[in-house]
Amino acid sequence: MSPASPDHISYRPKQNYLIVHHITLIIRSHYTTSTRVMAAQGTTLFSPYKMGRFNLSHRVVLAPMTRCRALNGIAGPALAEYYTQRSTPGGFLITEGTLVSPTAQGFPHVPGIYNEEQTEAWKKVVDAVHAKGSIIFCQLWHVGRASHQVYQPGGAAPISSTSKPISARWRILMPDGSYGTYPKPRALEIYELPEVVEHYRQAALNAIQAGFDGIEIHGAHGYLIDQFLKDGINDRTDEYGGSIANRCKFLMQIVQAVVEAIGADRVGVRISPAIDHLDATESDPLNLGLAVIERLNRLQLNLGSKLGYLHVTQPRYTAYGQTETGRPGTEEEEAHLLRTWRRTYQGTFVCSGGFTRELGMEAVAQGDADLVSYGRLFISNPDLVLRFKLNAPLNKYIRKTFYTQDPVLGYTDYPFLSNGGGTVQPLSRL
Ligand SMILES: Cc1cc2nc3c(=O)[nH]c(=O)nc-3n(C[C@H](O)[C@H](O)[C@H](O)COP(=O)(O)O)c2cc1C
Repeated sequence: MSPASPDHISYRPKQNYLIVHHITLIIRSHYTTSTRVMAAQGTTLFSPYKMGRFNLSHRVVLAPMTRCRALNGIAGPALAEYYTQRSTPGGFLITEGTLVSPTAQGFPHVPGIYNEEQTEAWKKVVDAVHAKGSIIFCQLWHVGRASHQVYQPGGAAPISSTSKPISARWRILMPDGSYGTYPKPRALEIYELPEVVEHYRQAALNAIQAGFDGIEIHGAHGYLIDQFLKDGINDRTDEYGGSIANRCKFLMQIVQAVVEAIGADRVGVRISPAIDHLDATESDPLNLGLAVIERLNRLQLNLGSKLGYLHVTQPRYTAYGQTETGRPGTEEEEAHLLRTWRRTYQGTFVCSGGFTRELGMEAVAQGDADLVSYGRLFISNPDLVLRFKLNAPLNKYIRKTFYTQDPVLGYTDYPFLSNGGGTVQPLSRL
């Protein structure tokens, strides 16, 4: 099947309308692609970009990263320091995954945004980032089955699309720093889903109340929404399982609810159809990605307004610090997936995963991405934007402090160029 084939979604009713609609989308996406590529020529990571209402001065985005420094779910001064260190005038930051409800947690000391105390605490972080001129979106997260009874209210089983646990190949970080096995989750009943959707909606409203410029819906990397999207996990026999259309339903209900609450241009969506982190395998990642994208396109058309952006994790072999993808794929195959999704999506396209300065420059120059999000390099280089601008050497990141709770060590103590950083070897490739 060709990548842009209209029959990758199992629609049945209104077929004629949909075929015409799909052909329109294909023509439009080809037109947009060629204009985009023309527009991208001469574009660098330092070319300004207008993302809806937001005027970005460059295209180096802070990727969302869980750092486990929000003691008891509260975003305290350590987070304010961490995010302001990475702020630049006209820069764009996405926060770490932030809990939408008490059942959303699967890591120690991650921040929440479902109650007043958490929301109030975020205000100080957001204000500090705004004072440095950056735009900041809050990533809304529910881990689903990637949790443990110790993180759940009343010691209950974690919730998911399924009652199958994550395999023993993956380990969960426990509150005491040890690693455990993932327990058997409880499959959500249909009647419970609206309440989960409501948690996202309320969390989005709380984020706006905290002063965030917008939110990102975390639909990637094997967490709750991905547990509905992927056929390697979702074994439901009801209207939320089976066909790609059914598996997209939960995500789209969340997107719809959040967009209605805070406006489309303040909503980003993250997906990773080709990443099998936490057993999130998919037999047809290309068409799953296209199905989500076409639904987002349609929503945008219906609303007459664009979403903030679509954020896709590059299925590069080492992209997520994991090498057990099961289907590594070649660089060409991966580029094909990304380009097909990029061509089809009618809006701002953000890429993430294994990007160096050089690869990021290439991606924006070739029109493969509007913005590039950087994770690990941004952990160890708070002034990554300046270093990229100067093509200066980079600090190496220290993996063992990624998820520890020290408010400084491996968090806010990486040196800036201006105070002696940059004496270590540059990374040519992650
Ligand atoms: C320590 C760490 C924590 C992460 N936490 C999140 C997260 O909370 N939400 C998310 O969507 N991705 C998360 N990611 C994935 C990153 O956003 C990013 O896509 C990934 O690190 C690949 O980009 P990189 O090669 O530039 O590091 C995390 C990655 C790392 C290294």
